[in-house]
Amino acid sequence: MFKLLVLSCLLAFALPSLAEDSDGDGVGDLIGITQQLPYLKEIGITATWLSPIFTSPMADFGYDVADLKGIDPIFGTMEDFEALLARAKELDIKIILDFVPNHTSDECDWFIRSAAGEEEYKDFYVWHTGKVVNGIRQPPTNWLSVFRGSMWTWNEQRQAYYLHQFHAKQPDLNYRNPKVVEAMKDVLRFWLRKGAYGFRIDAVPHVYEIPADADGNWPDEPRNEAVSDPEDYTYLQHIYTTDQPETLELVYAFRDVIEEIDAELGGDDRVLLTEAYSPLEVLMQYYGNGTHLGSQIPFNFELLAKISYSSDAYHYSELIHNWLDNMPEGQVANWVFGNHDQSRIGSRLGADRIDACNMIIMGLPGVSVTYQGEEMGMTDVWISWEDTVDPQACQSNEQEFERLTRDPVRTPFQWSDEVNAGFSNASITWLPVASNYKLVNVKRERGIALSHLNVYKQLRALRDEPTLKQGDVSVTAIGPNVLAFKRSLAGYKSYITLININDDVESINLDSVFTSITTQLQYVVVNDKSVRRKK
Ligand code: GLC
Ligand code: MG
Repeated sequence: MFKLLVLSCLLAFALPSLAEDSDGDGVGDLIGITQQLPYLKEIGITATWLSPIFTSPMADFGYDVADLKGIDPIFGTMEDFEALLARAKELDIKIILDFVPNHTSDECDWFIRSAAGEEEYKDFYVWHTGKVVNGIRQPPTNWLSVFRGSMWTWNEQRQAYYLHQFHAKQPDLNYRNPKVVEAMKDVLRFWLRKGAYGFRIDAVPHVYEIPADADGNWPDEPRNEAVSDPEDYTYLQHIYTTDQPETLELVYAFRDVIEEIDAELGGDDRVLLTEAYSPLEVLMQYYGNGTHLGSQIPFNFELLAKISYSSDAYHYSELIHNWLDNMPEGQVANWVFGNHDQSRIGSRLGADRIDACNMIIMGLPGVSVTYQGEEMGMTDVWISWEDTVDPQACQSNEQEFERLTRDPVRTPFQWSDEVNAGFSNASITWLPVASNYKLVNVKRERGIALSHLNVYKQLRALRDEPTLKQGDVSVTAIGPNVLAFKRSLAGYKSYITLININDDVESINLDSVFTSITTQLQYVVVNDKSVRRKK
């Protein structure tokens, strides 16, 4: 049985904020992460996901992998990774790697051979000679890349277009070729045998495109009339390039590898997390289908993607119920409020809601996922167009980039009030350090009783109570402003979480909300916005 409790995603790419940049190049690294693992222990993290650490030209900060079995020198060596695994094992922290199945780098040996037309690799990627309209060659379809513009780029050597759902330097693998599936399963085996505990699987809905017709052609995607910018990804409805039914089969096949390695090496808690912003009914099938096992943690992005600044308590409750009420029997829920692709909680929902969001993800049953820095309330850092490095933004323009850029959430981790927030002694870090780092940093927050960090640690400590580990949950909104949930377990104390989403003082009669509140209640965790204090 898998028993993951808390999990934090730490960007290892140029961000291994956790890293303290051990070699002073302004970019975090594996040695730095290893040195800082005790911090994860301190805040109760049991497993941590590193964003891609593999050899990469860094066109998408590691999500463009050139050597799927190699460590990029910017982060260190294979020995450094092995040392990280060994230290993590001592501390009982599981290391989860980021697995990028949809694409490789165009500098990957497979792509170079495919472009050269080598027999073994020629169908490793998705190629098409395009169509000729009025004597002019054009891409085979109107499909648009997530990072703007056509999903097709012409390759001179091969004299054909290749497909890339993301950046042109991220050519899509062709999963209709069984050799690709086998090669990628082999990559999973390689890292599992090394001691990785599992994978966060990147961009899963993009893996398959609709099969080509008998002539080898694909259909155009229909317009989304609400969007007028013809280069923008949202200009089309992605009915042929996302969430194809074969995707689920692939997730099940990857899970088989997990089972295979569990049997080979012992243990039964290796894990898959899947990244998909897909409809709920699709996500529920990621767990498995009755015949096949799937991902134990299909990321639950309900709260992350749908809660906005103006959401009321009914909305929070509805989204929480969406997951709890639709999950297949016997599966474990998971709760996510942040990641390296989305604006931080304090910036998206307001700094006053940071503790509230941490209370939700820590108090509900199942796996709790924290994006590094959210435990101390880091917020987005404004970065000028000139200093922007995220390809999703750089492919747009000075007017649009702020809507698209992910740099603001990826800035160096704030360890202390020292130079560069204690992250690096380089004169320039890969992204600028937040200007508020002297107020928001681990060292300072350790010393403040009701800092975000200390509230987080108290919530984490509570999770070791049997009621929070195994108890039932009942979730409800008490009017538009208050979200309430109760955890209970026969024979143990019950815990009630009350979150006032807005500023006005609220009076609540709990007896009318939850049944069997018989005994005296006591405050166990409050934040500094509450008029109450712990007794
Ligand atoms: C996922 C990652 C994102 C990356 C993209 C392409 O969405 O989370 O950071 O840019 O996939 O690999
Ligand atoms: Mg694909």
